[in-house]
Amino acid sequence: LDPNSLNENDRSKRANEPRSTQKPAQAQVPDRADVKAPENLFKVDENLCEVTHNDAKSAIQRASDECKPKIHKSYCDHKAGMLLPSRIERTCPHAKRFVAQAPAVTTKNPDAKIRICYFLIVHGRSLRQIKRLVKNIYHTDHVLYFHVDSRSHWLHSELKKLTLEYPNIFLADWRETPIWGGTSLLTTIFRGLTDMVEKQYKWDFFINLSFADFPVKSNDDLVQFLFKYRDKNFMKSHGREPEKFITKQGLDRVFFECDNHMYRISERKTPIGIEIDGGSDWIALNREFSEWLVFSKDENLEQLKIWFNFTLLPAESFFHTAVQNTHWCESFVDNNIRVTNWNRARGCKCQYKAIVDWCGCSPNDFMPKDLNRLKTSRPIFFARKFEEFVSQEAVHKVEADVYGEYSSGTPSLNSYWENIYNAEETERFSDPSKADITKDGQISIFNSWKRLAKLDGSAKLTDVHIYLERKRAEVGYVLEYKLENGDTRQIYVKKKDEPNNESDEIPISIQIGTKWDVKELVFRDPGGLISTQLPIHASLRFHNVHEKFHAIAVIQDPSGTPADQIEMDIPEDEEKRKRRAKTSTFHCEGELGGEVVAADKLALSLPLRPGVWTVSVYVRGTRSMKYIEDSKTHFTVSPLGLFAGKPIGSSDAARSNGGAKVLNNKKKDLKLWNRFIDDVPTADKSSHFALSLAKNSSFVSEQLNSWTDEILSQGWTIASTCTTNSLSPLPDCSKSYWSTFYPDPKSELGEVNSNGRLR
Ligand code: UDX
Repeated sequence: LDPNSLNENDRSKRANEPRSTQKPAQAQVPDRADVKAPENLFKVDENLCEVTHNDAKSAIQRASDECKPKIHKSYCDHKAGMLLPSRIERTCPHAKRFVAQAPAVTTKNPDAKIRICYFLIVHGRSLRQIKRLVKNIYHTDHVLYFHVDSRSHWLHSELKKLTLEYPNIFLADWRETPIWGGTSLLTTIFRGLTDMVEKQYKWDFFINLSFADFPVKSNDDLVQFLFKYRDKNFMKSHGREPEKFITKQGLDRVFFECDNHMYRISERKTPIGIEIDGGSDWIALNREFSEWLVFSKDENLEQLKIWFNFTLLPAESFFHTAVQNTHWCESFVDNNIRVTNWNRARGCKCQYKAIVDWCGCSPNDFMPKDLNRLKTSRPIFFARKFEEFVSQEAVHKVEADVYGEYSSGTPSLNSYWENIYNAEETERFSDPSKADITKDGQISIFNSWKRLAKLDGSAKLTDVHIYLERKRAEVGYVLEYKLENGDTRQIYVKKKDEPNNESDEIPISIQIGTKWDVKELVFRDPGGLISTQLPIHASLRFHNVHEKFHAIAVIQDPSGTPADQIEMDIPEDEEKRKRRAKTSTFHCEGELGGEVVAADKLALSLPLRPGVWTVSVYVRGTRSMKYIEDSKTHFTVSPLGLFAGKPIGSSDAARSNGGAKVLNNKKKDLKLWNRFIDDVPTADKSSHFALSLAKNSSFVSEQLNSWTDEILSQGWTIASTCTTNSLSPLPDCSKSYWSTFYPDPKSELGEVNSNGRLR
């Protein structure tokens, strides 16, 4: 965690409340009384000790068969005092923490030359943003070394192509599976560092980056700075009471990574002799210290490595502790040359409890309004986190500040593409024995769009990208096909235009979708690919809110029957809204780019009824309920056409496409709405709808396709088509603004400039 970017307000709050590393996630760890172990559970190995600690009992209970004995063994070793060193010698000549100073460089040295080894640990699918980052940090003097998460197959194959184009960009041929807060992240950093030290590339500093980092100063500024302080090591400390840091960070607990999960298994004491320090895991290490970390057989260093192997978020503490307690201590600078954008109300919602037995925090993406955090006297050269998917504006502003605006008329400055489907990856890496409901739903929708676009049945879908314009002014899907004659064809699918749902009174926009991101307050699937088996959220954005009001969104199923309502009390000022964000069941956030965002999960029973659903917004006054003019919006729920990647059979179709018996899973009484909504169906109409739904849910093959197409054609439109075949009369993809073949200079790398850079 990087406490550096907290303002004073946040800092004081931080001292009082649980944080990243907040209290143990009790919700995750089964209640002690609930742990009903099978008779033989704790006798995995007769020779091992009895498990008495509840954390370990719970961990073994939840772990896979492969991990149970490993956890058990580590627990017993710890109990016997054999797992962790209890004493590590401090060899720093200073009794107390020594902090070297490295103020900003004010005079340029014309001879300054520094070679940087950037180690980029990436995952996910944000290829265009990664390329934009590379374009901004690249220099022929530097080395760029990528590690791609073992689960991110598509990204790996795309980055491999990049390594063929530039002699100083490399891709690790090993693949770890780093998890949030895991020892695997430290292992990944350490393996990367080891490779770079052993491979004899010439570099002076090792800097780790993720796809969400972006430079906020020029390469030249960074080189000048590092040249002056080439004997230093840059890390950021937590800046709070050491004891508090240790408990909040879970350093006084033993963790064990297995099943891609950090299991908490016991308590422990920190080693006598050394001071544990930590903060952010984003670092800049000089070559000499890096070599020592990799090659030295120093007994204390070895002990530290063992101790951190059983530590939550070890990457945030290992390097700090190693530099400060050894003869390197005078090289420690308490500045990791970056700013991290923390917004604790949003970033600390304990969103990692499925991955770690603890409550984790994450920094937020920069929005334009957060960029004033970059104005600091501390020398900083990078900031995180940036996501073009969330705010292209912020990335654009930072890049323009450093290297100037792109010339007017440069194409795609407001566009972003992100791949969401790649056929080759799906074919090679999907596990056919496991049904992936999200993917089955997506492909059912893609298949329908292909029919609606009247593409030949033999056209093979190869890729799907989301297309986003800045501020999400336009959202669409680009589907790419290989035709039988070898041509490449793309189609662009958008939602049908809705009436402008911004009334004069309270301007509101409504979105319904899956994959609601509680931290960034956006849908990760911004277009809304909804099928019957997915839980959905409703999000309301209110523009220019100056007075308190009480909004209610009513959701009607395809027959018009009210299926749920969500109520949102929006306070009039930002402070109150922030407080509300913490206490209410829905998220309500002020001033997200001038808007108030409120969102809640809908209490709809699964499977959802296929068809066109409706949402409208009302405002509750003291005595009245008022419909907001034009607030009605629609969304489609597609029937499932596939199950476990294969055309769906009749029993799975009946189970998936017939809707649930009870619409609202909280059994809310929604009769009130019959008074306000004029299209609520009569009893006759309702039973007629139920009968036709029962019939339709028996459909498979052609009948199912027609039903799906009928539903989706009401919500989606094939907005455009293009080809890469210059002889075809169809529009040319390289001239279609939405196509992935359209020029995108901000993310295209091209040839190296005479100054050694790409940007
Ligand atoms: C922040 C710190 O940056 C993080 O390193 C620390 O462990 C917790 O607080 P956050 O910014 O949310 O977390 O982490 P994120 O950037 O998502 O991940 C850290 C690094 O791990 C990145 O380089 C990321 O690419 C990598 N990672 C994360 C993976 O490779 N795979 C994953 O599944 C998750």
